[in-house]
Amino acid sequence: RVPVVVDCDPGHDDVFALWLAAGHPSLELLAVTTVGGNVPLEHTSRNARIALTVAGVAGVPVAAGAAGPLARDLQTAEWIHGENGLGGPELPEPAFELDPRSATELIAEVLAGSSEPVALIATGPITNVAILLRDRPDLAPRIREIVWMGGSTERGNVTPYAEFNAWVDPEALDLVLASGVPFTMVGLNVTHRALVTPGVRARLAAIGTRTAAFGDELLEYFCRKNDEVFGLPDGPLHDPVAVAVLADPGCVTTTATHLAVELQGAHTVGATVADLDAMLGREPNARVATGIDVERFWAAVGVAVAALD
Ligand code: BDR
Ligand code: CA
Repeated sequence: RVPVVVDCDPGHDDVFALWLAAGHPSLELLAVTTVGGNVPLEHTSRNARIALTVAGVAGVPVAAGAAGPLARDLQTAEWIHGENGLGGPELPEPAFELDPRSATELIAEVLAGSSEPVALIATGPITNVAILLRDRPDLAPRIREIVWMGGSTERGNVTPYAEFNAWVDPEALDLVLASGVPFTMVGLNVTHRALVTPGVRARLAAIGTRTAAFGDELLEYFCRKNDEVFGLPDGPLHDPVAVAVLADPGCVTTTATHLAVELQGAHTVGATVADLDAMLGREPNARVATGIDVERFWAAVGVAVAALD
């Protein structure tokens, strides 16, 4: 099993990312860390614990990290995730407290204590990972790879060319790309194919567990909001696609490329620039997701959800 830490900002799709990481037989979820993103840190930190509580996952520490980006004010997305970040279901109390360590302290201890390098999966603004690499560069060799949901090889979802996670903290992404740690970007160009169709919803609901029922309420709200905001009634479930890269590598095709993020553009801050046609003649510094086996992806999600309470 691949040991992983998930750094997230739940968020409806982040919850499914956590469940895929916790429930899939190929992964071992060692820790969860949270960041301000879709909603403020207070909510994401509570929601991550609620996601694990509903699924009956015990013994995985959850630690809070950065409240906002490295160099900008936090921009949130209540318009898609609701005021508390998990609009839709009635939320239970989390069954456990937040870990007293900060996100970066927790990740550092997990990396130092693991017998093998640990993969970091980030499904929000990548601030915590950037802080870790900035403050503890000695730990970089302990990171097996970083897989991040964010960016796009095509267009954006908050500005014409920027995806939300990249746009919220582009400086963090820039720092992570410069670190030399193997990095995979899973962007909108593939996650917009991971659509929650009525068939997908029915299949997940038919699992019939508490987790599946809670998930169905999340998806009902998420699809309704995606319809209202983007005209996409089959909402794209972005974040678990990043987890699927490690859970079942056959789900996602990736291409090595040079990747950069726009920090200054007058109209394009947060745009990710993937040199897929190798026009720049620069060495690849990343892999970028370019294809997805949609059927296989949903099968992986189904296997994981079915393994939980
Ligand atoms: C990303 O932004 C957030 O709203 C989602 O959770 C996902 O991580 C998609 O752009
Ligand atoms: Ca997210």
